Order: sequence, then structure tokens, then C-alpha cells
Amino acid sequence: MAGPETILEVSGLVKHYPLTRGILFKKQIGAVRAVDGVDFALGRGETLGIVGESGCGKSTLARLLVNLEPPTAGSIRYKGEDITRLSGRALKAVRRNIQMVFQDPYTSLNPRMTVGDIVGEPYEIHPEVAPKGDRRRRVRELLDVVGLNPEHINRYPHQFSGGQRQRIGIARGLALRPEIIVADEPVSALDVSVQAQVINLMARLQDEFGLSYVFIAHDLSIVRHISDRVGVMYLGKIVEIGTDEEIYEHPTHPYTQALLSAVPVPDPAARERRERIILSGDVPSPADIPSGCRFRTRCWKARERCVLQVPPLAVPEEFRGTTGPAAHDSACHFAEEMRVVPPEEPPEKPPEEPHNSANTHEVR
Ligand SMILES: Nc1ncnc2c1ncn2[C@@H]1O[C@H](COP(=O)(O)OP(=O)(O)OP(=O)(O)O)[C@@H](O)[C@H]1O
Ligand code: SF4
Ligand SMILES: [Mg+2]
Repeated sequence: MAGPETILEVSGLVKHYPLTRGILFKKQIGAVRAVDGVDFALGRGETLGIVGESGCGKSTLARLLVNLEPPTAGSIRYKGEDITRLSGRALKAVRRNIQMVFQDPYTSLNPRMTVGDIVGEPYEIHPEVAPKGDRRRRVRELLDVVGLNPEHINRYPHQFSGGQRQRIGIARGLALRPEIIVADEPVSALDVSVQAQVINLMARLQDEFGLSYVFIAHDLSIVRHISDRVGVMYLGKIVEIGTDEEIYEHPTHPYTQALLSAVPVPDPAARERRERIILSGDVPSPADIPSGCRFRTRCWKARERCVLQVPPLAVPEEFRGTTGPAAHDSACHFAEEMRVVPPEEPPEKPPEEPHNSANTHEVR
């Protein structure tokens, strides 16, 4: 599924934050189930898009993947080795290879540091990657690689635009020559025109450096052009995962279908033919996840079975044994293929020469 060589394999990943009461004697009264059992594999050189609404656990998942915090349960295997069990030197070596690019270029860069110091900071933690005397040269090279002027190495973040700041964040992410980049909404804070530039840059860097990406976004339209596969997250779990074509053109999970129905469609004719699915109710709290299918409180197809049984993330019964694009993993008891975004119609043939020009406007 995940390409020729699996570089990262995530199984049963869980992160629960305890909810406590009391000041002196803290008593746990529950847990925020931010990430609640996530499984996926990432192939070398592949981009896996992760999409879901605010609060579904995307940033928590990102922090777990780069080992910024330990999981409550589950494993993250990098080239076969479970990185959640590493410590000391072994952990440091792995961290170098899995880097993160953050969402907000306005707050993630230290305003009091020059760009040169920001991009070169990872070398302070990993001096073995670049000897001290060579760091400035490397930083200039990195600035050039991400399309910034190396002469601006002594400038401060506020002297750059939002798109340029995100390039600084990407240059920093590349400094240690990682194999995997986990990008947490890297373009969400940018204008639409700048979003495309940053995505194109990331695609070029991927080819140039053979990078594997986990690319997080809250909107399916953003990840479409960069992802080989896409996973849709809801309340801490992946509810549907498949190739670009499977998810965008043959979604089978009602939640994916609802998200797709809100994606902007450039073709006005296709936009008119598309049916908008408006979900009722709010996303439940991750501290109080519904029984059975966690999407059932907002699903227009929910039945009794959905209250009682958790649907597994697997090829649904009705598509098992088939080979079509609907036969991909979808956590729904009643999965059905639904094309939400209609295919673009072929361009109309040029009208034939009218025999009687007076009648032409009546045809329709
Ligand atoms: N350190 C923490 N302690 C307690 N709860 C947390 C912590 N970090 C995240 N959460 C909770 O976990 C849930 C998932 O948060 P997370 O930031 O991962 O979501 P997200 O999908 O990245 O959202 P957004 O799209 O808004 O960035 C939220 O309910 C959040 O309040
Ligand atoms: S399992 Fe039931 S509630 Fe969940 S998505 Fe499918 S139909 Fe909806
Ligand atoms: Mg987030």
C-alpha cells in the first residue's frame, strides 16, 4: 500500500491527556482522547495527507510522530525500529531524521533571532551534521534552496512576508537533511496564491532530496495536489484512507463525503451540479466520544448498529473481493460509494454553423 519501502509505520497510536480535578490532591476524572488509535504506513518518497476539522488531533499526531511527546500507547516504527522506546543518543539520531514544519510562520519563528541563527539553530543540537566553520555557508545554501536571497541572512523574521517566513521554517526543517518531514498545516495561515507557491516548493524539495512527507491540513482541497494518499481524521481516529483518486473520486465514508462537498470547485458548471452536504450538530468533545461509530451523532445514515459496534478501518464488506477504487479502507458499517465532486464535463463542441441563425437562441 505505502510504496516500495515503508519508512514509517504507525500502529495503535494513542495520546490521552488526563482530565483532573482538585488543586492539592489531583484526581483524574476522565481523559481527552486527542489521538485514539491511529494506524498508517508511509512509503519512502511518498506524501500522506492528513485532513480533518479543528480539534480532531492532527497537531497531537504530528507531535507524536516527531517524538516531541510520548504516546499513551502504540508504536511508531522508523525503518522497523520503534522510536517511542528509544532514549538518549539513539533517540537523538532518529529525531534528526524526522523533522517538523509548523503551521504559523508568524509565531513559530523567534522574532529576536536573525534568519541565519534560526535556520542554523538545529546545528547547535546536532553539531556533527555541520562543523562550526561551515554553518554560515550551509545556511546560505539552504536559503537559496527555498527561494530566499542568501544575502538576507542577517535580517529578522518581521522583515519578511508570511510566505517568505514559511520558507524560512522549511529551510530550518531541511537543515539536518532529514528523511521525513511532518508538516503541520504549513500553508493554512497563508493567502491562497502564496499557498500554491509554498506547496510547489515543497513538491520540488521532495524530488530534490527524496523526502517523505506527512502533510497535515484542515481542508481536502489543500492536500490534493501534493498527496499520493490521504487519511481523513475524525475525533482522534482515521476514518478513511486511500489514494488520491480513491478519496477524491470514490469516497465511501459519509464524513469524507461531507468534507468533499465543501471543497471549492473551480469549474462553475461542476459547482452547480454538486450537492452540498451540511452536517448537523457540533463535533463532540474528545473527552466524551460517542459509543460505536464516533461519527454517528452527525451522520445522516446512522442506525442502531452504529451505536453498538465500532466500525473497523478496513475495506468495507460490500467492496471486499472487488478491485475497484471503492475497495479501500473506510470505517463505516454502511459504506457506499458517492461521487461528491462531479467530473468536469468535456469542453463543449463548438456550435455548428446554424442553418437558420434566427432560431439558434431558442435551442436549449
Ligand atoms: N497538552 C494538552 N492537554 C490537554 N488537551 C490537549 C493538549 N493538546 C491538545 N489537547 C486537546 O486534544 C484535542 C486535539 O487537539 P489538536 O491540537 O491535536 O487538534 P488539531 O486537529 O490540530 O486542531 P487544529 O485544527 O485546531 O489545529 C483538542 O481537544 C485539544 O484541546
Ligand atoms: S458506521 Fe454508521 S454512523 Fe458511522 S459513518 Fe457509517 S453509517 Fe454513519
Ligand atoms: Mg493543529
